[in-house]
Amino acid sequence: MSAFSAVVHLIYLGTAASFVLGLHLMNSPATARRGNQLSAGGMAVAVATTVVVLIHDGAIGVGGWLVLVAGGALGTALGAYAARSVAMTAMPQLVSLFNAVGGGAAALLAINDLVRDGVATRTTAVTGALDILIGGITFSGSLIAAGKLQGVITSAPVVFPGARVLNAVLAAGLFGGAGWLIAAPDQTAPLVLLVLASLAFGITMVLPIGGADMPVVISLLNAFTGTAVAMAGFVLGNVVLIIAGALVGASGGILTKLMADAMNRSIPNIIIGGFGTGDSAPAIGAGAGATVRSVSVDDVAIQLAYASKVIIVPGYGLAAAQAQHEVAELADMLSRRGVDVEYAIHPVAGRMPGHMNVLLAEANVPYPLLKEMDEVNPEFARTDVALVIGANDVTNPAARRPGNAISGMPILDVDQAKSIIVIKRSMGHGYAGIDNELYTNPHTGMLFADAKKGLAQLTSAVKTLVG
Ligand code: TAP
Repeated sequence: MSAFSAVVHLIYLGTAASFVLGLHLMNSPATARRGNQLSAGGMAVAVATTVVVLIHDGAIGVGGWLVLVAGGALGTALGAYAARSVAMTAMPQLVSLFNAVGGGAAALLAINDLVRDGVATRTTAVTGALDILIGGITFSGSLIAAGKLQGVITSAPVVFPGARVLNAVLAAGLFGGAGWLIAAPDQTAPLVLLVLASLAFGITMVLPIGGADMPVVISLLNAFTGTAVAMAGFVLGNVVLIIAGALVGASGGILTKLMADAMNRSIPNIIIGGFGTGDSAPAIGAGAGATVRSVSVDDVAIQLAYASKVIIVPGYGLAAAQAQHEVAELADMLSRRGVDVEYAIHPVAGRMPGHMNVLLAEANVPYPLLKEMDEVNPEFARTDVALVIGANDVTNPAARRPGNAISGMPILDVDQAKSIIVIKRSMGHGYAGIDNELYTNPHTGMLFADAKKGLAQLTSAVKTLVG
């Protein structure tokens, strides 16, 4: 190995270490930003090193450099613009689009390698075929998932007669095409078959999955992207791609499992379909005769000001209203009065993993006040007021019974609190589209308001009350 090559390998090793360390720092919100910066810095160094290697080897001509620089500039500009301008509530769609780009790029690398250079070894043929298979499924599947979340495609499961037969045919095309390509890597027909079958399979795999399962699907496709990138690393013989891809594949797989567990779903069950198609049995006590108690801002202000323990339960509505600063201000004021205030964070509250953590961090809510579900649930019984703000499904006791769309999903035990206040605009449903029997609980008072306005009014009412 030449001295140049040894230095390059050492730099790659350093960047790989920065990815691992970055992931480790993401374990805690307190260090997550630093972890992100460290990994991004490592990736920038890896890209710069690859450019130096290309210059050193004289591997590409002027045309190649033009494409590389133009593509890099366009990709960086589009990525930076999309990430900066996206609304927090649309983040899952953006992540899905990024997955599509990653999977598609990895598949294109393998296609390019097969078509242009002709694969010499069986090992590269195997990894190339896997790269196209996984990358193709990820590309089309992620586009469908983004379309469903954006409302461009119906979020309801799309099922049609003969879908199972079609999927079986496509699966045969996928594995048949991959096997054929490995046996005859220099032929075009198996390559075309594999590309078409994987793109079609991605579509038919995601279309029948209901919108409520989309976060888990996106996380799974993210794991696929990582795996496809690792395969592309084998095709190109690039260790950084292999390591980065394997890390994304493994961490995406773990996240998928955690999310599926938080929704009490199994991953095969999600892929085969079903959630969101379950019958929506009416909630007990939420029928026509059930009564809902509406409360005023002043009533709630009195309860909060004289409580000794308050647990705030944020949900998607808090994010939609962008009311994170208002809730932080109210919590601050109560804490200064000596009220014990905490936040209960459900793992799938909002619309993406960690949504509530990110939202509350924006308003500088101290991280130790954020309590995860298992930690906070036993505390509700000792709580004077559970203040539910724009959360619905994650508090719905219907989850404890079978026969509805959220059956078996672990929930926050809000109904154990002495008093429950729910701030939302109407009796409208949450993501799962079912009634919430918490709202007809005799201990529940409904404060019908937009979260931002309602919280601002509450804060000024508490101020007036306590002077
Ligand atoms: P949801 O059950 O979706 O309920 C949100 C509630 O917020 C709605 O009932 C809505 O009622 C209220 N709301 C909307 N805008 C509001 C505003 N401006 N002010 C006040 N309230 C407002 O939310 P959740 O409890 O956070 O549960 C999350 C759901 O999304 C779960 O079913 C979960 O499985 C699913 N999901 C989660 C993720 C991840 S990974 N977190 C991703 C996709 C889907 P009104 O219209 O009456 O105001």
